[in-house]
Amino acid sequence: MKAQNQCFFGEQALLAFALIAATVLFFSTATVRAEDQFVLPPETATLKSGAGADLTNARCVLCHSVDYISTQPRLSATAWKNVVVKMQAKFGAPITPADIDALVDYLAKNYGASAN
Ligand code: HEC
Repeated sequence: MKAQNQCFFGEQALLAFALIAATVLFFSTATVRAEDQFVLPPETATLKSGAGADLTNARCVLCHSVDYISTQPRLSATAWKNVVVKMQAKFGAPITPADIDALVDYLAKNYGASAN
């Protein structure tokens, strides 16, 4: 009597399954590589020190991190003033009219078009 294949899947299906399993296993372990891990450069964690840094920390880092400021393109003083006024007028940042010039000076000097 001829021997019957008792397996539900054929040999080719088993081979294909094994190949797929090996591929999934390979990629699941190989995809997390050191170069995939993003680490923020340290200078984005705090504001640059200098005149006005304390005021800017007090007025600008209540709702979002410093990165919102430090990762912007280098804006002009006018553009920074627009940002400060928008934060105050649209988002309710606790900024008095007297703060505005000092904040804009600090931002333009440290994160402005001529800053490093
Ligand atoms: C009351 C909360 C609050 C304070 C305080 C605040 N911001 Fe914002 N800021 C926001 C919100 C909300 C957004 C928009 C977030 C978003 O779109 O994901 C934002 C976004 C920004 C952006 C991204 C660009 C843009 O215009 O949306 C910059 C730059 C920024 N803030 C700078 C500042 C500076 C500088 C100060 C201090 C003068 C400040 N923020 C204070 C709430 C605040």
